Amino acid sequence: MVSEAFIRGLPKAEIHLHIEGTLEPEMMFEFAARNGVDLPFDSVADVRAAYEFDDLQSFLDIYYRGADVLQTEQDFYDLMWAYLERANQDGVRRAEIFFDPQTHTQRDIGFPVFMDGFLRAIADAEAEWGISAALILCFLRHLSGEAAVATWEQAADYHDAVVAVGLDSSEVGNPPELFAEAYALARAAGARSVAHAGEEGLPEYITGALDALGAERIDHGVTCEDDHALVERLVEEGIPLTICPLSNLKLGVFERLQDHNLKRLLNRGVKVTINSDDPSYFGGYIGDNYVAVAEALTLDQWDLVRLARNSIEATFLGPAVKERLITELETYVASLDQ
Ligand code: HPA
Ligand code: ZN
Repeated sequence: MVSEAFIRGLPKAEIHLHIEGTLEPEMMFEFAARNGVDLPFDSVADVRAAYEFDDLQSFLDIYYRGADVLQTEQDFYDLMWAYLERANQDGVRRAEIFFDPQTHTQRDIGFPVFMDGFLRAIADAEAEWGISAALILCFLRHLSGEAAVATWEQAADYHDAVVAVGLDSSEVGNPPELFAEAYALARAAGARSVAHAGEEGLPEYITGALDALGAERIDHGVTCEDDHALVERLVEEGIPLTICPLSNLKLGVFERLQDHNLKRLLNRGVKVTINSDDPSYFGGYIGDNYVAVAEALTLDQWDLVRLARNSIEATFLGPAVKERLITELETYVASLDQ
């Protein structure tokens, strides 16, 4: 077994992380108190006890209610700052972070409130720890394609402040094709493109995300294994999968971590990465995800280095910065091999 310290120290990127999913129960109480919001929970322990999910939808129902406590620019700043501080401790050198604008605009909280909070925290964290971060604007797929287009238009002042657009929320019954127009607009404006697909949905949703949305990475994507031709395509085109093992476990995508297909996909040459998704809800940050999978699937040192390397290669950083981070990874591994 590779040591936990080695795994946590690996220089890595996190590219599947919902900032609203980093709201720890303690923070939820703090924000609720300062904003005068009533919570349906009496204590932090009560909140944690409520985090038992049967599937994606049962999680989303609680997750969107939790986000109600986020109201001021300072709330969004504090949330982002806390995540980046925690990620830095897990060796994260680059984070590409989802946010759900519609969860906030629906509550009459405008783009400047959350964007200015996020961007200020990112700048401060970069100055403090040298961690690099970028934002991915996600469209909620339980809402319409027209609502996604309207959201992209509402975000006009911040188009240059997002590196990519993404697609999240309830997958089954909400296929990617419905969001083709929003993605076309975003891509024409220079945004890169990712999408959640194949978390609970059929492999067709993955193909749809690639073809209709031009997705450059697939978030989750674990159901691809049911379609051999699709797996071949992912390998050939070098499409990264941003896999979130503890999330998959908590939402019943795999019953046991030992059943997870991450290692099989890695062995078949898919560009697999490990991420935390919604760490405060799923019981672990990125380092915890790496450690849990290493143990459950008996990953060796080279698997783990491959996963860290994949994560850096899968970012939207330019080639020179990627190269610098990969050199940092190689130096780290070499120094421990002595
Ligand atoms: N899937 C879909 N939507 C989400 C997720 C997820 O894993 N996390 C937050 N929103
Ligand atoms: Zn996700």
